[in-house]
Amino acid sequence: MADKKARLTIDGIDEVFELPVYSGTMGPDVVDVRALTGKGLFTYDPGFVSTAACDSSITYIDGGKGVLLHGGYPIEQLAENSDYLETCYLLLNGELPTAEQKQTFVNTVKKHTMVHEQMNHFFNGFRRDAHPMSIMVGVVGALSAFYHDSLDIDDAHHREVCAYRLIAKMPTIAAMCYKYSIGQPFQYPRNDLDYADNFLQMMYGNPCEDYVTNPVLAKAMDKIFLLHADHEQNASTSTVRLAGSSGANPFACIASGIAALWGPAHGGANEAVLTMLNEIGDEANIEEFIVRAKDPDDSFRLMGFGHRVYRNFDPRAKVMKQTCDEVLAELGIENDPLLKIAKRLEQIALEDEYFVERKLYPNVDFYSGIILKAIGIPTNMFTVIFALSRTIGWISHWSEFHSSPNKIGRPRQLYTGPTQRDYPTK
Ligand code: CMC
Repeated sequence: MADKKARLTIDGIDEVFELPVYSGTMGPDVVDVRALTGKGLFTYDPGFVSTAACDSSITYIDGGKGVLLHGGYPIEQLAENSDYLETCYLLLNGELPTAEQKQTFVNTVKKHTMVHEQMNHFFNGFRRDAHPMSIMVGVVGALSAFYHDSLDIDDAHHREVCAYRLIAKMPTIAAMCYKYSIGQPFQYPRNDLDYADNFLQMMYGNPCEDYVTNPVLAKAMDKIFLLHADHEQNASTSTVRLAGSSGANPFACIASGIAALWGPAHGGANEAVLTMLNEIGDEANIEEFIVRAKDPDDSFRLMGFGHRVYRNFDPRAKVMKQTCDEVLAELGIENDPLLKIAKRLEQIALEDEYFVERKLYPNVDFYSGIILKAIGIPTNMFTVIFALSRTIGWISHWSEFHSSPNKIGRPRQLYTGPTQRDYPTK
């Protein structure tokens, strides 16, 4: 327990409040402020910039040093030596699998890749021009209507089956969203292919032609999945935990995570990067956009730059940049006009005083946006792919939450509305 204490004094109150201080295995100590409620006080932290909302042993981030660890393993080492499904196992179980455990895990995921045939009809309710995220958020929420047999959140086996179903079905659903939008038939999963390759097959395959694997692109796709797999208590993961704290079913909780991810300040950034590059349109216009990004009276921001937690560099971005170079070389499109704008922006932001001073480095979504565009993924699918990748993080945190005693999440507020007054009765 706590061997350190923080002491808090407040003007006008005689008492000195002694608050326990806890240390994790790494990272900043935390001050336990729970006793303050009983004293008629709340802590105030809009945006939760100083709040540790839970205990967790899944992922560790040191934003200042640019460190990201899953189960203690640096993201760079996982990206180099592991793959997405092995990282899924690590996030869910806290340890890397043995060769046998990995094989069993991969085989079990493969058994769940198809979605219930009835779900195909569900898509027909959407307009063809609907944003794929709006389809995905609805369809994933609807999974709870199809898979009743794994909804007991207090049963560890049910939680595990749910995790398998989500990991396996998200690529299928993501690809279905795309196929629906272009009016092509859904492609069934192919379990002879690796996870990422199977996703590309469901995106680009069709019944008239054999799908041809491109190992460089499949590897890049797997890396995008792996680098987005988890990121501690970000907005969408916190949303999943909060939704889960009420006892809501896991599929509904994941749908809430997808909704939170959608915004351009979070997962929507990869799509926003491409929208921004299109808006800039020509290298000659870059300067004008840089001026706007620096203007405090203009809400425009350079999408794909900056991060709430990383104040040095985003370690995922480093790996992604390397993959980005490999993909562009493989496809021979280094001279694509939009990619040229991206490269120039990257260079300016790394040198310009405004960005350097504020430590606004390119983040993972800057490079993943460029790779996805190069692979030929339509822009409106970018955030869908982020959601697919992050599902393992969400379900791992949801499962961790339910594996130990817990409480419903219920933040309080600093009330600034009218004081009590009587309803006018004439
Ligand atoms: N372009 C221009 N200025 C920026 C940017 C940007 N992208 N990001 C931050 N700033 C400025 C901001 O105006 C402020 O300046 P000043 O101190 O003069 O007022 C300063 O930098 C600090 O910004 P902040 O708003 O306090 O930072 P934050 O931690 O609240 O926001 C962020 C973090 C990621 C929301 C923000 O950097 C941003 O909007 N970036 C663009 C969107 C983006 O790429 N998001 C994806 C993040 S990575 C994927 C994920 O993990 O979800």
